[in-house]
Amino acid sequence: MAKQRVVVLDTTLRDGEQTPGLALTPEEKLEIAQALDSLGVDIIEAGSAITSEGERKAIKLISKAGLKAEICSFVRAAKEDVDAARRCDVDSVHLVVPTSDLHIRYKLKKTRAQVVQMALSTLEYAIEHGLKVEFSAEDATRSDQKFLLDLMKQAEERGAHRACLCDTVGILTPERAREFYSRFVRMLKIPVAAHCHNDFGMATANTVSAILGGVREVHATVNGLGERGGNAPLEEVVVSLKHFYGVRTRIKTRKLYSVSKLVERLTGLPIPPVKPLVGDNAFAHEAGIHVDGVLKHPSTYEPISPEEVGQQRKLVFGKHVGTHAIESELKRMGFKPTRKQVLEIFQRVKRLGDQGKTVTDTELRAIIDSVMGRKFKDLVKLEELTVVSGNKITPTSSVRVRFMDREVVESGTGVGPVDAAMNAIRKVVEGISNIRLMEYHVDAISGGTDAVVDVVVKLTDGKRIVTARGISGDIIMASVQAMLNGVNRLLWDRQMRG
Ligand code: KIV
Ligand code: ZN
Repeated sequence: MAKQRVVVLDTTLRDGEQTPGLALTPEEKLEIAQALDSLGVDIIEAGSAITSEGERKAIKLISKAGLKAEICSFVRAAKEDVDAARRCDVDSVHLVVPTSDLHIRYKLKKTRAQVVQMALSTLEYAIEHGLKVEFSAEDATRSDQKFLLDLMKQAEERGAHRACLCDTVGILTPERAREFYSRFVRMLKIPVAAHCHNDFGMATANTVSAILGGVREVHATVNGLGERGGNAPLEEVVVSLKHFYGVRTRIKTRKLYSVSKLVERLTGLPIPPVKPLVGDNAFAHEAGIHVDGVLKHPSTYEPISPEEVGQQRKLVFGKHVGTHAIESELKRMGFKPTRKQVLEIFQRVKRLGDQGKTVTDTELRAIIDSVMGRKFKDLVKLEELTVVSGNKITPTSSVRVRFMDREVVESGTGVGPVDAAMNAIRKVVEGISNIRLMEYHVDAISGGTDAVVDVVVKLTDGKRIVTARGISGDIIMASVQAMLNGVNRLLWDRQMRG
């Protein structure tokens, strides 16, 4: 197996954007490309230039952004696709040709000979025009292997710079991936890339196996975005290669979490909490035995340190909590609790858990204050809230609050009334603490338009992250309540830190 550095082609902006329902603006694509570049990706497949005016604008913006990565456009075996890519000033094209009879006969309605002719003449055209070419076989794993190898050899002879074989519908297994890719590595002189889909949840394992078979380049997407089950997730491939096989890439793994979150925010596709490495629960612990173990030695229930992928360890307080977690949290807050107080808090948290609730930081705070006999004073208290919204005006909110015993009036605008109200509250504390809303979840507890809603927010002041809840029949009030609870908790923590 090669100890050589593996090249990473990120296709979040092409294959990832093919996720049904997903469409990014040129500016959003540029922001993601810049993040991928600073993450250390070698090649960015920025899109498919022939697709639309907006797509061309995005690829052009990315090509002109002065990034270190090679900028590539997807092209079909057609000269107009290459011309569109050239006009976007890309460094290379990912020239893709279907090679299985299934695709050739039913999708293209052509013969093998016609496909070979189209593919090779487009390859020559791209090379003549100074482009690097990654020559790719779509549905390679269901293609006649002799036909496929023949085509790849001809592409190599005509100057293709790299070859890529796509497991388009994710039908490989790790054993077959190693065997399949190693054959092309042996038979071709140019570098071979693996492009694996995740229809059976095997994409990471298959990509890693392809590397063990001698492949020098991997295709992947941030958060595993892509059609159907998605593509091989970049974060999983890179970290697995490093940890299990000592195979290096240029990826700065500490940036993985922030890039993953950026992609989540701009695509609007939420990362499942249980997603390996970048999910919210990847380094979260609730169960008593686990928390006890992690507090004594993090490796007991963490295969790598959360910081390695830019994450933080989280202790979650709910039904499965143990007394060690409570004790440790109390100490972190500066309390010296008795055993009886720890047990009382433990039982109250469990009771909430049994009612099906996770306990937010502010709720835990309230339990601790009442058991420890300390009164947590809200530094910001809402006195009046006004929100104006409609189809012809910018949603605007004004708030009057008591902040550290002074009256403060602030206003904010937003994309909707909730956003406007949240912005107004953020402004109240702006001079003291730079509080940022990281997440916002809303659940309707009952049905109908008069439903009681449960809003949970996650906020940070850059030092600490807190979760807080607000419940009301009015979504704006529930949101404001959650925001104020979180803001008060962060300010209180800040006071404790002096
Ligand atoms: O999965 C695939 O086959 C592809 C090609 C079109 C490159 O994404
Ligand atoms: Zn693909």
